Amino acid sequence: MPSATFSIWRGDRESGGLKDYSTEVSEGMVVLDAVHKIQAEQANDLSLRWNCKAGKCGSCSAEINGLPKLMCMTRLNTLPLDRPVTVEPMRSFPPIKDLVTDVSWNFRVKQGIKKFKPRPPDAPDGTWRMAQQDIDRVQEFRKCIECFLCQDVCHVLREHHHFDGFAGPRYFVHIAALEMHPLDVEDRVEELKKAHGIGYCNITTCCRKVCPESITITENAIIPLKERVADHFYDPLSRLFRMFQSKKKEGTHAGTETAAQGRDSGSAGAR
Ligand code: SF4
Ligand code: SF4
Ligand code: FES
Repeated sequence: MPSATFSIWRGDRESGGLKDYSTEVSEGMVVLDAVHKIQAEQANDLSLRWNCKAGKCGSCSAEINGLPKLMCMTRLNTLPLDRPVTVEPMRSFPPIKDLVTDVSWNFRVKQGIKKFKPRPPDAPDGTWRMAQQDIDRVQEFRKCIECFLCQDVCHVLREHHHFDGFAGPRYFVHIAALEMHPLDVEDRVEELKKAHGIGYCNITTCCRKVCPESITITENAIIPLKERVADHFYDPLSRLFRMFQSKKKEGTHAGTETAAQGRDSGSAGAR
């Protein structure tokens, strides 16, 4: 069998570097197979995350020859094996050990996003009615496997380390799935601008290019969300409409209160 060399990053939070391993490879192997073979035969203490080996759990994210990819979905026959294949941890997140990174920041970001809030049921049996085209629109976003490769490649995080005040492409996809959901009535537009920093995204499309689920992150999620932010904050007609709506609500509320007070005093008089 032919052999190939893999330069695998070994190290921890303090220090580390690439170490070469040569191993036999065969037809149909993916990078994860080769790394497992090296782990079994030459480096028992090599740490890596994996679970499904089918591109569905999002655990085996790494940088292969400098590109963010899933190790289990990267076939060796797509790589030049006449020189060492580099396998490194995602650089945007702190290394824990070898190929394992600390991605817990992502989970904290998710906790800060307003949850799904459905409107009241449409029918007395507690069910809703939705148009198929509205469901189809958000279905794409539900394919996300939380591999965080898009977060890894985004320059706002990778180069500028803007971990405070920027949610990143994975969470713009998540917010788009909620905001465009036909039943959701929550409003996340203010947070999108202020807490989640969507303005820092300059639509480079790098995130879309690395997504293993081929989610059209920029065109279908980020750009429509940016349009909502622009409408909310910068469109004078939308602002006027919202002012009118809130005044109308205040008026209705005041009217309701007056009527309620009237009812209260009426019933108090009757007592
Ligand atoms: S398009 Fe926006 S979110 Fe995606 S990588 Fe570029 S800057 Fe980051
Ligand atoms: S949007 Fe794509 S690249 Fe980003 S976490 Fe989800 S599956 Fe991974
Ligand atoms: S092992 Fe699950 S995505 Fe690679």
